[in-house]
Amino acid sequence: MDPIQAAFPATRFRRLRASPSLRALAQENTLSVNDLIWPVFLCDGVGVTQPVASMPGVERRSVDLVVKAAEEAAGLGIPAICLFPYTDPSLKTETCEEAWNPENLTNRAIRAIKGAVPEIAVMTDVALDPYNANGHDGIVRNGRIVNDETVAALVKQALVQADSGADIIGPSDMMDGRIGAIRTALEAAGHHDVAILSYAAKYASAFYGPFRDAVGASGALRGDKKTYQMNPANSDEALRLVARDLAEGADMVMVKPGMPYLDIVRRVKDAFGAPTYAYQVSGEYAMIRGAALNGWIDGEKAMLESLMAFRRAGCDGVLTYFAVDAARAIRAGRA
Ligand code: PBG
Repeated sequence: MDPIQAAFPATRFRRLRASPSLRALAQENTLSVNDLIWPVFLCDGVGVTQPVASMPGVERRSVDLVVKAAEEAAGLGIPAICLFPYTDPSLKTETCEEAWNPENLTNRAIRAIKGAVPEIAVMTDVALDPYNANGHDGIVRNGRIVNDETVAALVKQALVQADSGADIIGPSDMMDGRIGAIRTALEAAGHHDVAILSYAAKYASAFYGPFRDAVGASGALRGDKKTYQMNPANSDEALRLVARDLAEGADMVMVKPGMPYLDIVRRVKDAFGAPTYAYQVSGEYAMIRGAALNGWIDGEKAMLESLMAFRRAGCDGVLTYFAVDAARAIRAGRA
């Protein structure tokens, strides 16, 4: 852009900042409840909530209470909820078959939510880590995460989620070839309208720490995820991954984590123009919430500013643990 611009004092940028009305007229981006996807954690039982220590204000909920939460979210106008299960350690195995058990926590929650609040879109997580005895997203053989065998398992997991009523399948595992395999299987099973939101550019990040506590994967995890998640030093590779996943049948793509990777969001949106999302991950949430609880920042203002930054970077929507708080603030006119 090479704007024609008169010299000072003909140009004074402060003119359009002088009042709320002029600032509103000149505002380039907006944040709406339509831009929010709410990730929630599931646990067993009835009437159970369990606080997640490293994510103040976030709790795991039993299926009955996640239905209530979905009703609340839908009432606020939040379009989608994304489910993550805390799996009982006794169900974790090296072969991860709990991942495609139609009666697992996630599939029971999908059916309960779609039965009670059909208008909210339910997104799932496709990856083996909540079910894996060693905490990895893929099947481990002789110390290596095996790609193709994992993809076959992920296809089973995704199909059962679609059968249970999921609207959006979210493969977060970073195996190669999984989007094409899942898309082919969904089409063959008649799930023509189930969308895939690919975690296309997912980095091996320290910002996932609190999440691994929330799903109970921290204790189990051996080593790191660097052989499948991206190197944080890379940017061109993200474009190649997004191109690949769109070509394999992803409807939407994600960059993850969020705030430290907004440069990637901008490149992806500019290059492809596809529906583009980012995940404001657990560590990002914990930093904002933790600082606010200590009185070091204004939590609501920092939350809203961070979400607007995602929009400015080119996101069509944001997965955020702040979704309900943000929706309330937006509806009250504070955003
Ligand atoms: C794992 C998965 C992770 C997150 C979503 N899905 C963690 C990981 O890759 O280790 C992270 C979300 C967050 O930190 O909020 N399949």
